[in-house]
Amino acid sequence: MPISFDERVRTLTLHTDATTYQMQIDELGYLLHLYYGRRTEGSLDYLPSRFDRGTSAAPHDKADDRSYSLDFLPQECPTQGTGDTRSPLLVVRDATGAFGCDLRYVRHELRGGKYGLEGLPAVYASAGEDEAQTLSVTLRDERLGLEVELLYGVLPHIDVICRAARITNAGTGRIVVEKAQTACLDIVHGDFDLVSLPGRHGMERTPVRTPVSQLSYVVGSAKGSSSHQQNPFLLLADRDATEVSGRCWAMSFVYSGSFKGEAARDQYGQTRLQLGLSDELFSYPLDPGEALVAPEVIMTYSREGLGRLSDNLHRCVRSHVCRGVWRDRLRPVLINSWEAFYFDFDGDRLVEFASLAKDMGIELLVVDDGWFANRHDDRRGLGDWVVNEAKLGGTLTQLIAAINDVGLQFGIWMEPEMISEDSDLYRAHPDWALAIPGKDPVVGRNQLVLDLSRREVCDNVFGQICSVLDQGPVAYLKWDYNRLITDIYSHAASDQGTVLYDYVLGLYSILERVGERYPELLVEGCAGGGGRFDAGMLHYTPQIWCSDNTDAIDRLYIQYGTSLSYPCSAMGAHVSACPNEHSGRMTPFSTRAIVADAGTFGYELDLKTLPPQAREKVREQVAWHKRIAPLVQRGRYHRLTSPLTDPVCAWEHVSDDRTQALVSAVVHELHGYGIARYVVPRGLTPDARYRDVIRGDVYEANALMEAGIPLPLAMKPGEYRSYTYLLERV
Ligand code: GLA
Repeated sequence: MPISFDERVRTLTLHTDATTYQMQIDELGYLLHLYYGRRTEGSLDYLPSRFDRGTSAAPHDKADDRSYSLDFLPQECPTQGTGDTRSPLLVVRDATGAFGCDLRYVRHELRGGKYGLEGLPAVYASAGEDEAQTLSVTLRDERLGLEVELLYGVLPHIDVICRAARITNAGTGRIVVEKAQTACLDIVHGDFDLVSLPGRHGMERTPVRTPVSQLSYVVGSAKGSSSHQQNPFLLLADRDATEVSGRCWAMSFVYSGSFKGEAARDQYGQTRLQLGLSDELFSYPLDPGEALVAPEVIMTYSREGLGRLSDNLHRCVRSHVCRGVWRDRLRPVLINSWEAFYFDFDGDRLVEFASLAKDMGIELLVVDDGWFANRHDDRRGLGDWVVNEAKLGGTLTQLIAAINDVGLQFGIWMEPEMISEDSDLYRAHPDWALAIPGKDPVVGRNQLVLDLSRREVCDNVFGQICSVLDQGPVAYLKWDYNRLITDIYSHAASDQGTVLYDYVLGLYSILERVGERYPELLVEGCAGGGGRFDAGMLHYTPQIWCSDNTDAIDRLYIQYGTSLSYPCSAMGAHVSACPNEHSGRMTPFSTRAIVADAGTFGYELDLKTLPPQAREKVREQVAWHKRIAPLVQRGRYHRLTSPLTDPVCAWEHVSDDRTQALVSAVVHELHGYGIARYVVPRGLTPDARYRDVIRGDVYEANALMEAGIPLPLAMKPGEYRSYTYLLERV
């Protein structure tokens, strides 16, 4: 059984196939963390070490025991007010205004299956995966009448343990939750690096690896969304951990709003890693009977380096976070109108675009921004999701039919959470925008954010989405979100510290309703590119536009970083024109395609401007992508080299049965004459032989995985060459 309780020593143990997580209810009822690491049997109740720490504070009932202090004991739910001077998960204020809470064990319960969370995305285990189990541990602060239910979900076969918490006011007075993070990992010894994914618009998720010291390391967003600048993902690794060796732990937040992740060593050399809601701009009152859910964190552990850790997360996100018919279906090859036309199109131009695309094997056309209201530029129209018939030369129904007649599926862009001041919706409901009375609102891309913490606003947005999607067979929706939240004021809220959290619940409720009503619809997330790329959104949108930056070389970095936490099936990646719109860089057409091949493939350029040879190339690229798509979307991903440290960036997708592997490499830096370079694949069947189906060469897997494939590098024919090998077991 994945979860067990040893009554003798009061340990609770969670097992996955390769890992063990253990906690203990100690003599005072505190829930201690004992261990998270490689699988082991039995109780580890001899941990942690206790010796004289008389300078640290102790609970009153241990006044005489100098070896007991919550300032050094590893804990599952550290709170402010118990003597622990490290960063707490939970901070509450009571009706007197006093801070402090003291949670002790009350009961626990084991349940079959994986818990779900009302109104929030969560990892799920499908029927048939009955080995998934849930542990619920209830802690209580008697004085406050505060109950915290800690939820642990175990998915044994992918080595994943999930955590969430339900914080309930079971007392008689008002309580204000001032901080509510979800997961904490106290590791009692070791020297670690923290890997996080900072970035910016157009350069999202570029990994940074930093040694963890006694200086706290905080990553987070208080912008209302997970953001371009940080990602709700933390990875802690042995200092010498590599892609294939060393211990590492990951936390990924299944939530799309503001978050906070922290890592620090304490005075005793122990490391605390924690992740959850941001406490900035957050203050959540709970009246008696009310509850707040701390959203889910996915945790995993690997002692085979970062590669295995990412693989665990990929499997979890791909099959237990993403849902619906598109979870397992191969995604359509699409073409998007944005970089081709921006706002400058009409119905005829779109239909002509679609027929060219059809001729090249492309399957779906996305009509991006500019099809509705008076949206001739990005200064107006958001909120009025009514088709601009004058611009399109007909109704949306007619346009969809014309695109379908050409043989393409139809997709459309919307930015449902936003409102322009120049819109009928704003003129009718100015109070529906998040704005502080008496203060000019901060604008982002000339727009304001709708107050999704209000039910009637969500209903209006949902109704408008339906009225668009009901115009005809819409196969795909690009759900965009192009600014951050700055003015936090809802006319409907009595406490403004609740708005950012309730906004996210509102967003999820709309996405849930869209998913229920249009089960065949493929929704792709987007936020000024990759500004909201997180496991929360992936519950509703199985793919997300990785970045507005389509430059193939920059994409090597972005996709490399994204792959630490998220699978290729989630990464929107398109081939665009050169010189690149964003960087001005020239890269070979083949390189742009090979880089986009590593995600959900498509195009973002005006096909009409392509000469005949390039059109033939597009035909070949589309056919090639359809051939390799199962490997990319379902295979195991290996980062063979890092673009941050290696002038050749190489990666590989291997089918689960190891019969096929796709190895790709891009030379993104070249100096002097050609140098000797080899790409060394991983994960093949040892002792087997593989044929490179492109060139016909046959290799011994053992040799390939040791010596590698020599890359024919040379100064000519120029920069940014790429190489790809499709290996099939013979
Ligand atoms: C954002 C998206 C782009 C495009 C534009 C349209 O920037 O990231 O892909 O959809 O909006 O305005």
